[in-house]
Amino acid sequence: MSVEHVPVMMKEVLDALPLEPGATVVDGTLGLAGHATEMAKRISPGGLIVGLDWDKDMLEKASEKLAVLQGVAVRTYHADFRELPERLAFACQELGRGAAANAILLDLGLSNVHIEDPSYGISFLREGPLDMRMDRSVGEPASAWLNRASVKEIEDVIFVYGDERWARKIAQVIVERRKTRPLTMTNDLVECVNAAIPAAKRDRRIHPATRTFQAVRIHTNKELTDLEEALKRIADVLKNGGVLCVLSYHSGEDRAVKHAFRELRESGFFEEVFKKPLTAGPDEVNSNPKARSAKLRALRRAS
Ligand SMILES: C[S@@+](CC[C@H](N)C(=O)[O-])C[C@H]1O[C@@H](n2cnc3c(N)ncnc32)[C@H](O)[C@@H]1O
Repeated sequence: MSVEHVPVMMKEVLDALPLEPGATVVDGTLGLAGHATEMAKRISPGGLIVGLDWDKDMLEKASEKLAVLQGVAVRTYHADFRELPERLAFACQELGRGAAANAILLDLGLSNVHIEDPSYGISFLREGPLDMRMDRSVGEPASAWLNRASVKEIEDVIFVYGDERWARKIAQVIVERRKTRPLTMTNDLVECVNAAIPAAKRDRRIHPATRTFQAVRIHTNKELTDLEEALKRIADVLKNGGVLCVLSYHSGEDRAVKHAFRELRESGFFEEVFKKPLTAGPDEVNSNPKARSAKLRALRRAS
């Protein structure tokens, strides 16, 4: 299936990053290479773009798009961006370049492809297997965990990662239901949420399953695990004057970015590029709903 992903806050990202011909750029979350393509054009001739994505299918599509670009070396890896420093070092060693980056982008979370393609089981609007993994070569489908975990474990995940006040009730319904009918499809989880939250108490602005799906997806992909630590290691591979941009889409992600950046700033070696995180303008939000929740923070290595 052919789905597009419109890159978020493209202009703001390109303006924040030092993208000169010959620069070394790392995109830790390649997706469909929307940002990466524009960054690559600006570092030609002589630049290097290193791209990572933990979704193999996504990486293949991105690699095809980048391969046709002129004047830049391209290295792509099927990897978690937590391995970014090692992958950058590997690519630079192979090409005989210094292993430090002028610009790094992390555009966290999901691609539109993950939402639109039912085989990922990420959207409550698409009936598909209740998998939710972006990297299907590791871990286990969300359904396996939901069919095994205790009420307390499920409640904690839905409460902490989803800010869902009905977390306990939803967890109880899941555990009760699976005694006779294990959860296998996205609709099974939607049914549990619908059974748990009384119609009169629902937040009319969002689908009742929104928070639960977000929480179970974050848990399944370990999206917040060691994120803060990873960001600090990643910032450490910046050259002097180099910039790390991070786009986050929910409060848990933004909190990790904020904490990591504060600690790095306090070390005296880094400065924040913006006083407050940037958000998308009204025109972009109107044309691309994914931009609504985006926050852009940027950190520059100052010495
Ligand atoms: C929002 S999309 C990126 C879109 C991209 N900037 C573009 O313009 O097409 C996020 C991508 O990052 C990948 N991703 C998310 N977390 C990751 C991680 N920890 N390591 C590697 N890739 C990750 C997802 O598979 C997805 O393809």
